Amino acid sequence: MPANSSDSTIQTVEMLVQKRFGFTSQVRQLDGERDWNFLVHDRTSNRQYVLKLFAPSEDPAFVAAEIAVQQRLLSFGLPVPEVVPTIRQEFIFESGIDGQKRQGRLVTLMPGSVLAKRQVIESDFWGNFGGIIGNVSTALSGFDHTAIHREFLWDLAKSEAVVRENLSRETDAGFRDLLQQVIAGHAEAMNRITGPLRQSVVHGDMNDWNVFTSPVDPAGNLPQSVTGIIDFGDMVWSDSINDLAVAIAYAVLDRPDPLDIACRMVASCHRQWPLTPDERQLLWHRVRLRLATSVVMAAKQLVDDSNNDYLGISQMAIRRTLPGLLNIPAVFTHAAFCQACGQALPGPIDNARRWLDSNTGRFHPPVRGLKSMTPLLVDWSVTTGLFDGDPAELQTPLENATVQLLESAPGSPGVGGWGEPRLVYQAAQFGTGDGSPPRTVHLGVDVFAPAGTEIVAPLDGTIHSLDVIDLPLDYGGVVLTRHESSSGEPVLVLYGHLDPASIAELKPGQKISGGQTIARLGDRDVNGGWIPHLHLQILADDFGLGTGFPGVCQATWKDLWLQYCPNPAPILGLNPKTVAHVPVSTETLAGSRRKLIGRSVRTSYRDPVQLVRGWMQYVYDENGRRYLDAYNNVPHVGHCHPRIIEAATRQMKLLNSNTRYVSRLQTEFAERLTATMPDGLEVCFILNSASEANELALRLARTATGGRDMIVNEHAYHGNTTSLIDISPYKHNGRGGEGPPDWVHAVPIPDTWRGEYRNNDPDAGRKYASHVSLALQSIESRGGKLAGFIAETCPSVGGQIIPPADYLPNVYKLIRAAGGICIADEVQTGYGRMGDCFYAFERSGVVPDVVVLGKPIGNGHPLAAVVTSHAIADAFDNGMEYFSTFGGNHVSCAVGIAVLDVVQSEGLQQHAQSVGEVMRSLFHSQPGSHPLVGDIRGNGLFWGIELVRDSSSLEPATAEASWIKNQLRHRGILIGTDGHHDNVLKIRPPMPFDKMNVGQLVEALGEVLASL
Ligand SMILES: Cc1ncc(COP(=O)(O)O)c(C=O)c1O
Repeated sequence: MPANSSDSTIQTVEMLVQKRFGFTSQVRQLDGERDWNFLVHDRTSNRQYVLKLFAPSEDPAFVAAEIAVQQRLLSFGLPVPEVVPTIRQEFIFESGIDGQKRQGRLVTLMPGSVLAKRQVIESDFWGNFGGIIGNVSTALSGFDHTAIHREFLWDLAKSEAVVRENLSRETDAGFRDLLQQVIAGHAEAMNRITGPLRQSVVHGDMNDWNVFTSPVDPAGNLPQSVTGIIDFGDMVWSDSINDLAVAIAYAVLDRPDPLDIACRMVASCHRQWPLTPDERQLLWHRVRLRLATSVVMAAKQLVDDSNNDYLGISQMAIRRTLPGLLNIPAVFTHAAFCQACGQALPGPIDNARRWLDSNTGRFHPPVRGLKSMTPLLVDWSVTTGLFDGDPAELQTPLENATVQLLESAPGSPGVGGWGEPRLVYQAAQFGTGDGSPPRTVHLGVDVFAPAGTEIVAPLDGTIHSLDVIDLPLDYGGVVLTRHESSSGEPVLVLYGHLDPASIAELKPGQKISGGQTIARLGDRDVNGGWIPHLHLQILADDFGLGTGFPGVCQATWKDLWLQYCPNPAPILGLNPKTVAHVPVSTETLAGSRRKLIGRSVRTSYRDPVQLVRGWMQYVYDENGRRYLDAYNNVPHVGHCHPRIIEAATRQMKLLNSNTRYVSRLQTEFAERLTATMPDGLEVCFILNSASEANELALRLARTATGGRDMIVNEHAYHGNTTSLIDISPYKHNGRGGEGPPDWVHAVPIPDTWRGEYRNNDPDAGRKYASHVSLALQSIESRGGKLAGFIAETCPSVGGQIIPPADYLPNVYKLIRAAGGICIADEVQTGYGRMGDCFYAFERSGVVPDVVVLGKPIGNGHPLAAVVTSHAIADAFDNGMEYFSTFGGNHVSCAVGIAVLDVVQSEGLQQHAQSVGEVMRSLFHSQPGSHPLVGDIRGNGLFWGIELVRDSSSLEPATAEASWIKNQLRHRGILIGTDGHHDNVLKIRPPMPFDKMNVGQLVEALGEVLASL
């Protein structure tokens, strides 16, 4: 930064640009420590450039080298700035500015924005980045320049010494210890490499401020990619792998699943510039080393410049990220990199399998006595039937059920769990700390047996290590035994949940013989707090972790972990299939679904979700990942609400039959339902789906009026039957639709934000209603006769619309005057969702003639209802019997009563109102300020956020809405999109959704929006 960054400096630079490059410009100062950088805007061509004035001390040869490297990379088609020649056709010029001579050069400005500023990065971007690094390395491998052979403090090849020398500058003892681990790991890895590393010129600083990226293209047409690499001031002759290492180090800062990012970068870098085995082995150490270097260098700089707040802040991300990188064993990352490069996995994997195969039948089962008994499979998977209820509190019920199961087959030990995703791992140590899903997949086999059961060595060997890990849900006592394969390679066996007292005498290195008792199973108070059982795991390689080797891994990485931890069934004398969890991947299911289910039945989200379990406002996928459900209104009182399940199962055990028999349940449900309605709505029809209910409503209207014509809202949806498609413009005017039949007349949806009459028009409600008059005239002119008007009271499919309060009163008046019936489709809005009322029609002070209820009233059980007046119901009783086989059956009615009970006794309407108030204020204060957000509307737990690209033209941001929905899905939050342009984010969660959930949703939404 110039000492004097005043207007006069800017003017001087503008004159300099005119003199050297011949154009008039507008100049703005940019950041820069040693060098001065200016953004130069060519007033004539509108192009933008960056002018660099090097520090006076800068070596001219190095400046020339920088230009030569840039030219070389450009010749390889790489995105680096072009150097602009002066009028005299020179790339470098010299100028006296601020009383000092400085060299300067002008380069083109890179498009896009720096990686550090992009909050959301598409996962495919990392592949593109890795490929670019591979190409840079290829280009630089054939290049040299004397000025680049220099001593440079930031040269990663020398960083181990730099960190070691400056270690004491780190004042936090815990963090100093981490830095120590980084250099120790690096030193050890350097000892293992087999020959000299490849060397070349390296850029040296591809950090996230030096890499430009294109924005996200929500439509997915333009993949996000690297648009520029800048700042060649750290170039040095060094180990070629260092560019990839530096790039990964900064790419993973504060991002979930750093190893996934690294693997994507490695895979595509390798395709362009194949990595050597030594480079793969060293890479993760270099990644960590770079961050450690940054930490100590910042500490060093802070000594000289203690007021530099920026230095402190830029270090925060490193300090947050580095501990997580140390938690991923470097040997495992090496394996992941080998897999990413399509190379054989390192380590003695095959060896462990061979050891198992060659000793099958010779093992002493580690749980004494197991061999002779028939084992009982204990399923602790996410879908286990051993417990129901809240997965956040499953341990006690799951273990109690396990005890009961074991007691049902006395003497048979329970076994199971290899590769099984589970919900039981709910302690902090199973979280990843980086926002990626927690560790859920079990890497060993569990054998359930009483505390005190003797654990024996399966074969001759030695004690490798032992420990007592006294953390809740950890191992308690744990032992590793070491055995040797026929080729002399070690294979380790891990035994967890032991009684610490029983292993107190063991010593690492101690010889043991097959069949010898080495420990006893621990009880709950000493085994990590579990029901007594043995965790038995085989390790083809312990990655140097000993007893700290994980027993559970993240689902994303399970295939790799399970290769190192083969199925221990042969040791137990069991068939491996008995204890192996057989997953069915979402991809496989999606493939079969495409073959077996009609293709017009679509899935939500670009990457479909396989949901297997639910509880209240949460759902869980097959790997135990929890999603916050901000979308599904059908499980109204909460997924798997116990009172609903209890009512349904109780009745299923008694009787389920149809409406041709008199039933207390049926009349009670009808009585309870009509009690929620205004006077005059006194008769019910109980059905299975809202489509069936709307179909009946249509027939009621026609029979009662003798008319046939219907007036509907534009973009409405009322169900899937032939007649309902006819009255649903959303379908018949959409893809594959054939337009409306002549008896259907659509009137504008009362959308006061986008529609013809808007919020600023106090008469908007009446004006929208006046379109009904036009429709009535059209019916009359074609000689038709009105049957009625149907509308969602607050159109949800139409985009979560809240009509003006006087809209429906005016419409109903017109319809009734014309002899028609008013039907309120309350399928989405009924049962308290709107917060301030039980049914949305109450907001307008109207009483419909027919109310249609569906989705929420059965909480997932197929249940719907039509409620109407005696007059209309009687008119329908014209001699023809109305019969629906499943409608109003005993079980459905029991469920219907239970749902009403829960809604009323848990005060869910009031809850929706108070949570909705928090939504209103947080939505408006946070996402509301983003330029894409056009309108935020709703009440209670019924909200729409309409996205537009332009606030005056209201161009719908459809692709952006879809992109946001998919991004939130990846962050574990489910929402939908809807509206005529599908540009409205639809938030309509199960009613237990609470204020904390609002905070989670708003935070994630804010982050995702910020990247657009
Ligand atoms: C407003 C409205 N009415 C009726 C239906 C039809 O409901 P079902 O799919 O239960 O037949 C739906 C379904 O989405 C709806 O949203």
